[in-house]
Amino acid sequence: NTGKLWGGRFEGGPSPELDALSRSTHFDWRLTPYDLAGSRAHANALHRAGLLADADHAELLRGLDALGERYAAGDLRPDPSDEDVHGALERLLLEEVGPDVGGRLRAGRSRNDQIATLFKVFLRDHARTVGGLVLDLADVLVAQARDHLAPVPTVMPGRTHLQHAQPVLLAHHLLAHAWPLLRDVDRLLDWDARVAADSPYGSGALAGQSLGLDPEGVARELGFTGSSANSIDGTAARDFVAEFAFVAAQVGVDVSRLAEEVILWSTREFGFVTLHDSWSTGSSIMPQKKNPDIAELARGKAGRVIGNLSGLLATLKALPLAYNRDLQEDKEPVFDSVDTLEVLLPAFSGMVATLVFDRDRLAELAPQGFSLATDVAEWLVRENVPFRIAHELAGACVRRCEELGIELADLSDEQFAAIDPRLTPAVRDVLTVEGSVASRSGRGGTAPSRVAQQLDEAVAAIARH
Ligand code: ARG
Repeated sequence: NTGKLWGGRFEGGPSPELDALSRSTHFDWRLTPYDLAGSRAHANALHRAGLLADADHAELLRGLDALGERYAAGDLRPDPSDEDVHGALERLLLEEVGPDVGGRLRAGRSRNDQIATLFKVFLRDHARTVGGLVLDLADVLVAQARDHLAPVPTVMPGRTHLQHAQPVLLAHHLLAHAWPLLRDVDRLLDWDARVAADSPYGSGALAGQSLGLDPEGVARELGFTGSSANSIDGTAARDFVAEFAFVAAQVGVDVSRLAEEVILWSTREFGFVTLHDSWSTGSSIMPQKKNPDIAELARGKAGRVIGNLSGLLATLKALPLAYNRDLQEDKEPVFDSVDTLEVLLPAFSGMVATLVFDRDRLAELAPQGFSLATDVAEWLVRENVPFRIAHELAGACVRRCEELGIELADLSDEQFAAIDPRLTPAVRDVLTVEGSVASRSGRGGTAPSRVAQQLDEAVAAIARH
């Protein structure tokens, strides 16, 4: 006996080089609790099918529990001779309950349906954790937005192409980062419902099992709502892994967009925001430095989680049905995405929660760069001027200001009138940031009353999740 799961038809054991290549315990050992739960459910199914005597059943469950306790206590370890978590746990179970009882558990299942099932359970657990952390970040953004909405709303220069575009409320901008995160949580929930309906246990190696086991019972015991309709699909499909990796990558990307802004905003040139000391770092040589390392790591780690997704898709591309050993490569990338987000998100939320915005600086910059030009054009439209002409006239105002080196509100009544008589002194009503933001009162707009409503919607959305 080679000590492997497949001794019978082999004369000698595998070469050490093969063992080294094949081994996955250094990364799949963390699946131990899931594998044990799957084994418990499988033992129960064998028992229900009349293939396991009461005493053997009880003994198997005792053995599996004992392994679980040792794992929790940190003194269960794979051996260098173990290929993967499944083989290691079978060896340890045989040691625990003896080969006669322990050797009954593998009936009717394969590592192929086993890994497909328990990887789903693992990812469903972590989808909940990651989803919770993403919600925490959305919550922090909502809290910052609330702080900057009343009593006096903080205004800022809204940008397109990174150029001053139109003034907006800081609360509006912060909430614009919260909504994508809430959609990411929705994506995790959608994903979870799909995965929950499809427990692969019972698929066997690829063709299903012949022992009268009941996959639906196993599925329910493991928290699924249903089992795979097709045993080939059950063992070969990994779209659930790729989809999870996509949502993780999208979370990384969404966080990176805010990260980039925090990095810009905390520069001397922008001066929009100061990072809390506990959530920023210094330099080993430059005593004055305060660096936004959390935001930079967030930006960098987005690349990493994107890489995990693309690597995974490359592994899956053109892979014939059913199980192929290539599929063992599905775990490390997603483990890494999970670990990355679970360490990144709490740090990132802490940084965002403690950002201190410079309201005066933001307010001072909000009207600069002629960001009220659109307001002039829209005011003319309300005065019955066709938009094409209104746009021209507002543009002419900007050109005049550039010549004079002033901002729109600095033009005199005469200077306005000289550009066009339709530019009466009443145009000044819209030449304040407050007037501008207040006028954008349609649904989704940046008017304080609308943003207050939006904030309520975001709070309700967070509470729903
Ligand atoms: N460790 C493998 C994986 O992660 C499962 C084992 C299936 N191995 C096999 N030879 N059928 O995909």
